Amino acid sequence: MNGAGFSGLLLDDPAAGVFRYARTALTSPDIFAREHEAIFSKVWLYLGHESEIRRPGDYVRRTVAGRPLIFARNKTGEVRALYNTCTHRGATICRQDAGNAKAFQCFYHAWTFDLDGALIGVPDEQSYGPGFDRSEMGLKPVAKCESYRGFVFVCFDPYACSLIAYLAGVTDYLDLIVDSAEGEMEIVLGSNQYTIRANWKLLAENSYDGYHALPTHETYFKYVASMEADARKKMGEIDPTAAGESFTATGEAIALGNGHAVTQKIAPWGRPIARWSPLFGAETRDEVAEVRRRLVARYGEERARLMADMSRNMVIFPNLVVNDIMAVTVRTWDPLQVDEMRVTAWHLAPTRESARMREARLDNFLTFLGPGGFATPDDVEALESCQQGFAADGVTHSDISRGVGCATQRPVDESQMRGYWRRWRDLVEGRVEVPA
Ligand code: FES
Ligand SMILES: [Fe+2]
Repeated sequence: MNGAGFSGLLLDDPAAGVFRYARTALTSPDIFAREHEAIFSKVWLYLGHESEIRRPGDYVRRTVAGRPLIFARNKTGEVRALYNTCTHRGATICRQDAGNAKAFQCFYHAWTFDLDGALIGVPDEQSYGPGFDRSEMGLKPVAKCESYRGFVFVCFDPYACSLIAYLAGVTDYLDLIVDSAEGEMEIVLGSNQYTIRANWKLLAENSYDGYHALPTHETYFKYVASMEADARKKMGEIDPTAAGESFTATGEAIALGNGHAVTQKIAPWGRPIARWSPLFGAETRDEVAEVRRRLVARYGEERARLMADMSRNMVIFPNLVVNDIMAVTVRTWDPLQVDEMRVTAWHLAPTRESARMREARLDNFLTFLGPGGFATPDDVEALESCQQGFAADGVTHSDISRGVGCATQRPVDESQMRGYWRRWRDLVEGRVEVPA
């Protein structure tokens, strides 16, 4: 299959202020198959975070774009990404979600592989012929595996550009997030996993769609405002209604190259990194102020302000989101079929922070972005509802033209999605052979 036959899916006419995409892009099994070949076999995809496999021998099992993988740290501390399939007859080798091992043994006929994938044990090996060569039968490594600031990615195309070239402007924002943690960040143990009955691209759109926030998540905004007001009242503050800034149409959307983009705005609520909220408790006020002082001293007023005050939602094409809001969420999703995806989300936090700050983050991770929180069930409902709506005959396109032609793009506009879809079109149509 090549790109021929997949043209014309976008109506992109900047002069007329029109931007629409054909809904078949989210319903056609042929386009879904083309995406696997042209996107998920070509670009860099998120595998995991280095902190998940700290010690030699640590491993986790992952599925990336439908491919079962082992993400492991070898004896000498290097990160490995191996296909999780036995070179004998195919059984998956690693059958636990996570653990620590000296070697992996296949449960079917007991072939044994070391942490680099080398085949080190074959029962009754003398029964094989002279052409049997152990060195050719190791677990196959993924073509490319590189990391940036602890975020590990794989690419199934050996001819792809480097990870850093692929990430383009994303690196500035990963730097900002990791630097604000004053050193190191770690994935907090555990993850959220759930499926959504909707096309995988709808979750990318939703992740930095500022336009939906107020109507879809009204309950949450009211809840936070009332909790903050209660907390202030308890602290004896004069104005119990001074519940922080409201959620307004401020901020900006920034294209980062290669289909990636970030939206950022002043946080309407606190940020454990260095913007205090009454919800964190009065006893944390000095601690948060001290972190802020340190950030200013180290990075200057402007960069410290970006770290402390601004919330951001970043989509790294095609299927990774870093939500740097009250908690930092790393979320990726695997397309299962044209109208279904499996989502996995982790909570990323500074390795060195107080127990109370960690608690505030975890609370937000669960109450806002967790699958049982305030936001995610609303979003899942919205995405599934769109997918159901696509069955309506007669409406062929969806519109993402909001903000077309405006000099400044805000998070409530849709330029971030237009950049994403243009990149999607270039890959699906085969306009970009080797992403750079
Ligand atoms: S399938 Fe793994 S040892 Fe046979
Ligand atoms: Fe949402």
